[in-house]
Amino acid sequence: PNPATSVKLVLLGEAAVGKSSLVLRFVSNDFQENKEPTIGAAFLTQKCTIGSKVIKYEIWDTAGQERFASLAPMYYRNAQAAIVVYDVTKPASFIRARHWVKELHEQASKDITIALVGNKYDLVEQDSPEDEENNMRKVSVEEGQNLADEEGILFFESSAKSGYNVNDIFIGIGSKIPES
Ligand code: GTP
Ligand code: MG
Repeated sequence: PNPATSVKLVLLGEAAVGKSSLVLRFVSNDFQENKEPTIGAAFLTQKCTIGSKVIKYEIWDTAGQERFASLAPMYYRNAQAAIVVYDVTKPASFIRARHWVKELHEQASKDITIALVGNKYDLVEQDSPEDEENNMRKVSVEEGQNLADEEGILFFESSAKSGYNVNDIFIGIGSKIPES
């Protein structure tokens, strides 16, 4: 078997968008309805097989609360990959995500692989997208995709709750990571 390649990955995004929940789904295939806010940051690892290559993700799950924002550079400085998360029902979280992507492009490693992720897809009304009143979606797929295209990064919508697209984020990043 191939030896695993270690990849340092950081998650960034506003408080309560579901960063820790995405990690919990990816690492333990689990979900908690009332997950406690992260304090500082949490570290977890998980292996991921992509074709013939095995990646061992070393994951820094940062705290989104504003009082922890100054710690973020410590975690993204050496990162080879980043997941910037927003909540598709929270426009302010999308604005914050845009800022994180710009900060990464200015301050992080030049060859960092970034994925923009619109989480909580399960809250979007699937049957009647035109039903503005009841639809909780506040950030359109196009807005997310346009930002990702402008910045030249990956884009996914996901649900840590249902599991929708969660593995695909890590497989997508792993497929784009430059061989070291
Ligand atoms: P901080 O650690 O404070 O930055 O928050 P976080 O981004 O890690 O968010 P967390 O994973 O703690 O999730 C916040 C809340 O949203 C929790 O109550 C989760 O259960 C809920 N949540 C997370 N992901 C989803 C999702 O995909 N769908 C729904 N409906 N709820 C979610
Ligand atoms: Mg958290």
